[in-house]
Amino acid sequence: MTSLLTQAQDGFTAAFGYAPEGLWSAPGRVNLIGEHTDYNEGFVLPFAIDRRTVAALALRADGLVRVSSSAVSLSTGSLSTGSLSTGSLSTRPSSTRPSSEGTPAREFVLAAASPAAVRGWAAYPLGVAWGLGRVGAELAGLPGFDVHFASDVPVGAGLSSSAAIECALAVALNEAWRLGFDRTRLVEATHLAEHGFVGAPTGILDQSAALLSAEGAALFLDCRDGSSVPVDLGLGPAGLAVLVVDTKVKHEHVSGGYAARRAACERAARALGVRALRDVTVPQLLAARDQLDDEAYHRARHVVTEDQRVLDTVAALRAGDPQRVGELMLASHDSMRDDFEISTRELDLAVEVAMDGGALGARMTGGGFGGSAIALTPVERIPALRLAVGEAFGERGYRAPETFVVRPSQSARRELFEHTPES
Ligand code: GLA
Repeated sequence: MTSLLTQAQDGFTAAFGYAPEGLWSAPGRVNLIGEHTDYNEGFVLPFAIDRRTVAALALRADGLVRVSSSAVSLSTGSLSTGSLSTGSLSTRPSSTRPSSEGTPAREFVLAAASPAAVRGWAAYPLGVAWGLGRVGAELAGLPGFDVHFASDVPVGAGLSSSAAIECALAVALNEAWRLGFDRTRLVEATHLAEHGFVGAPTGILDQSAALLSAEGAALFLDCRDGSSVPVDLGLGPAGLAVLVVDTKVKHEHVSGGYAARRAACERAARALGVRALRDVTVPQLLAARDQLDDEAYHRARHVVTEDQRVLDTVAALRAGDPQRVGELMLASHDSMRDDFEISTRELDLAVEVAMDGGALGARMTGGGFGGSAIALTPVERIPALRLAVGEAFGERGYRAPETFVVRPSQSARRELFEHTPES
């Protein structure tokens, strides 16, 4: 974390030629269970991880916005969506210097920010400013800003690197612009950034996890009314940990099947005469089988059973029954593989090897079509498990996966400056 703060701070100075006013950070997330339920107004259970994006920011005297980043991967425009290559806003090459390992800063006019008009990853920060405007900030009367990002949230791994950018900047601007918005309003603004500005038809899972999570706990979120409670994960006392297996197969929400899955869910809800699949129970769905086409039925069956699995997982965690949590995770993976059809052979293999290696449960996490799997596992199994996953991928000629433990961490926050020791 320390080096990330230093990187953000130094990156800002290198890019803009003066020191930032403050540092703010937001985490990536894993979703323990509750996949593709958010836009169906159902339940999710993510937690913030100890991988973060830091935004170093200073307000400007004029209405310009300049964005830069130390992470080369942030400059590719290939974050979680494939929709970033269209349009052109009043963007012009900046006169600022790039940081040594970073990308040249890009410059925009705050008041001219409009959806689908910014190229590349800069759409995320611009979208946040725009989103804050949509939820009540008077952008015309607010100063522009310079911002530099540094991050150790892997991009394209299904761990919400884009939400980490959005939420780090949202808390930064909320404070610097003295907006006084509560976290729920920031969820709304950042979700608007992704959905309304970037154009990814996602739900509120990622931004909620980054803005509302508490250390050591998962966030039990009702995506219909936005209410949430922390649920203690109790990993340490149980001798358990969550291991991420990043398959290195990049997921792409827009060009992938995400939008098609969402459309099938909405079709199913319409055919069943309900506002959203949240309103359907498992017995109701089974009874209404012949009102749905085959695809819509299978997509709906995943969502409706997944909502129930989230509720059951919360109950199991509260009862201190990790074995049951593991079973539910595995059932969730099967449902995503067979009914929702968003898994990949690499994700399936990661889950299989984790289970063979003594994990209590494992599943793909996030939007699917690549990205990461998670395994709930006894701590002492981790070294063998990591080895086994690497070997199994190697045997099949798959790309070498990356495995790492994640800890349930704090949501977005202000960071203290790093003071370089005097020499
Ligand atoms: C992505 C989206 C979320 C959610 C998940 C699937 O992470 O950004 O809104 O739909 O996929 O659960």
